[in-house]
Amino acid sequence: MESGKALNIGDTFPNFQAETSTGKIDFYDWMEKSWAILFSHPADYTPVCTTELSRVAALLPEFAKRDVKPIALSCDSAESHLGWIEDIKAYGKLTSFDYPIIADKKRELAVKFNMLDKDEVNMEGIPLTCRAVFIIDNNKKLRLSLLYPATTGRNFDEILRCIDSLKLTQEKSVATPADWKQGDPCMVLPTVKTENIPKLFPAGVTIVTVPSGKEYLRKTPQP
Ligand code: BEZ
Repeated sequence: MESGKALNIGDTFPNFQAETSTGKIDFYDWMEKSWAILFSHPADYTPVCTTELSRVAALLPEFAKRDVKPIALSCDSAESHLGWIEDIKAYGKLTSFDYPIIADKKRELAVKFNMLDKDEVNMEGIPLTCRAVFIIDNNKKLRLSLLYPATTGRNFDEILRCIDSLKLTQEKSVATPADWKQGDPCMVLPTVKTENIPKLFPAGVTIVTVPSGKEYLRKTPQP
């Protein structure tokens, strides 16, 4: 199978139809007017994936608050997913599991979206999917992607933090600095002209002094 074209930030995320643990879906219809996070897994009944899917299930209220719908993908059948979900619920002490897992047994989507990891193979020597994350906005644009190897589980607090940054920075003329979290100061965008600062940032801007004397480190309370 030939790999798909690499998706870049700002590209339209292609629509697709797939079997899932909750039935057949058309991805765009399933998204409705929300954002989506699509995250892939190497295989069902694997330890790290079980912890990740359980964590996302526990974080569903946080995703809902941000109007982001999670959907997972794993290269096994929908029937296999349904059995695995019982383990995920037991592991996470969850009473329900309320988001779909795409069944990509033939790896069609894994190939289309370049999710295969050539260094991780299953018992038959077939490449496994890596841990890809795609954050897609309500206009179906790819806003952020992450790629982890199968052996490194993801940090979903970081993914929520990224969503918060994406949503804030699309509305306001700021960027979020290293380790930023909700409520922390932000950086004024380099493209903002000094004369526009009072109008755009009524809470004030502090310029950090640096040896170059250049005034590019402009901090402001989170707008
Ligand atoms: C896991 O989910 O634990 C896993 C899956 C494939 C390779 C390594 C780890």
